[in-house]
Amino acid sequence: MKVAITGAGGLVGRHLAARFAAKDEVLALGHADLDITDLSAVLKWAETERPQLIVNCAVMGVDECERDELAARALNVDGPRTLAEAAARLDAEFVHFSSNYVFGGEEEGREPYTLKDEPRPVNVYGRTKLAGSKAAGASPRPDCAM
Ligand SMILES: NC(=O)c1ccc[n+]([C@@H]2O[C@H](COP(=O)([O-])OP(=O)(O)OC[C@H]3O[C@@H](n4cnc5c(N)ncnc54)[C@H](OP(=O)(O)O)[C@@H]3O)[C@@H](O)[C@H]2O)c1
Repeated sequence: MKVAITGAGGLVGRHLAARFAAKDEVLALGHADLDITDLSAVLKWAETERPQLIVNCAVMGVDECERDELAARALNVDGPRTLAEAAARLDAEFVHFSSNYVFGGEEEGREPYTLKDEPRPVNVYGRTKLAGSKAAGASPRPDCAM
């Protein structure tokens, strides 16, 4: 399988790329290789490379999100939306990661959160991560995983 990993220079992307490389053809894309906030570049890249699976590991971190909310939205919300759209056009699979930050963490000692819990983000990172998952899930491809 041809697997593209965006944000492949980061913690999760680096490890995923190494794991996939054992069995699959991996396109490990660092920030300089593909800026996921650049819609036309992403769509053009996807059309050229035609991966069968796109895994998005690009993200703006917690502190940086607080400093620049507009940029946070571009990367954490519009980025996954664009990648999901690119995957849908290719009929490829798309994987995107959510975050524990979509929950408030307000109740000390409570059971671990599950998918049934209501998201209640308290910062820009959490809000943009939640919106990014929704944006990706709203892509035309119904089996988008998050
Ligand atoms: N690490 C965790 O404990 C954890 C926990 C829960 C969920 N997650 C989720 O897992 C995913 C990966 O997180 P991570 O911890 O691996 O993040 P990370 O280490 O901060 O890596 C993010 C990567 O995204 C790249 N990037 C930044 N802007 C970009 C852009 N415009 N286009 C393309 N790439 C860009 C960064 O490159 P530069 O640094 O060169 O800009 C960096 O290599 C995220 O969705 C995150 O929410 C992670």
